[in-house]
Amino acid sequence: MPRRRVAILISGRGTNMTALIEAAKDPAFPAEIALVLSNRADAAGLFHARENGNETAVVNHREHASRESFDLALDARLKATGIDLVCLAGFMRLLTNDFVEAWRDRMINIHPSLLPLFPGLDTHAKALGAGMKLHGCTVHFVRSAVDSGPIIAQAVVPVLAGDTPDTLAARVLTAEHRIYPLALGLVAGGKVHVVDEKAVIDAPGPESEGFLVAPVYR
Ligand code: GAR
Repeated sequence: MPRRRVAILISGRGTNMTALIEAAKDPAFPAEIALVLSNRADAAGLFHARENGNETAVVNHREHASRESFDLALDARLKATGIDLVCLAGFMRLLTNDFVEAWRDRMINIHPSLLPLFPGLDTHAKALGAGMKLHGCTVHFVRSAVDSGPIIAQAVVPVLAGDTPDTLAARVLTAEHRIYPLALGLVAGGKVHVVDEKAVIDAPGPESEGFLVAPVYR
């Protein structure tokens, strides 16, 4: 099976992008990173991508009067590069329904919470505010509602006494870098199917009969 051509969409520093680029350096990985695209020319991740030799592009949202026009330009750029799959990696633009539907089941996102808990921004502060003992991150197919869609992979981290949003974010980010390449590998390898709006994975996973418990001690 030929490697699937992936575009990573970023708005900022791009550490998840880097994790995907590193994973795709393995010739056995079923995806290649054909494009890194940002809505901001100053996104730090673009510089890392260029340093790595990846093709990059900027579609500046400020040059478009409407979301529709921006999304059409985005779609045209992805098609011009022959993209099969889109990975949102800290891409902080709301996408139109038409764009989301055009890429249905071919676009995935990573979000720093255990969805459907805490969609949107400030997820770590929200988890701390709710007194959560466990927190984490989710990779999911993208649907129109913000941070929603069939869940492909999740990772859980403990919330520790004394955590601040920043310390918790750092712990979750390490987990993000583990599950995003894993999820992209499964999707690009044709192992994930959406059935009744749930992601079903055709691959042997780790056997588990247990559960995770994270008590918090002072
Ligand atoms: C990541 O924590 C990602 O989960 C989050 O933005 C950060 C981007 O960091 N995405 C969202 O909140 C999407 N709703 P990165 O640029 O270092 O990958």
